Amino acid sequence: MKYLVAAAAVGLLLSANAQADQALATAKGCMACHDIGAKKVGPAYKEVAKKYHGDKGAEAKLVKKVLDGGSGVWGPVPMPANKTMGVSEADAKKLVTWILSLK
Ligand code: HEC
Repeated sequence: MKYLVAAAAVGLLLSANAQADQALATAKGCMACHDIGAKKVGPAYKEVAKKYHGDKGAEAKLVKKVLDGGSGVWGPVPMPANKTMGVSEADAKKLVTWILSLK
């Protein structure tokens, strides 16, 4: 698993890892509220990728948001603090890198 994390962190081999990353998102419960291409409780991941395209600060901001939760960017519905559900910072980084790579 370690090499997957490292590869995702530097943004390499993203397509090869996409399936593993989606499996992690499913395992961590993200897909209960999110879908890649459709709005569910939360925004579609492709919409998230579009919104933050070219925003260099986005990754750090979104990692924090995934861990701590929050509302107001996409609507009034809050995302819960995923760190209380067993999502580590490394998981959150990996997931955000994957989400931002979606088109
Ligand atoms: C209980 C439902 C729920 C779960 C579980 C959930 N989310 Fe969310 N997520 C939301 C909602 C609602 C929003 C919109 C929040 C807002 O408008 O600020 C959101 C927003 C986001 C955003 C965009 C944040 C922004 O500020 O633009 C990302 C990235 C994200 N979620 C990733 C994840 C990941 C990764 C996981 C799994 C570890 C996850 N979410 C689990 C409901 C959820």
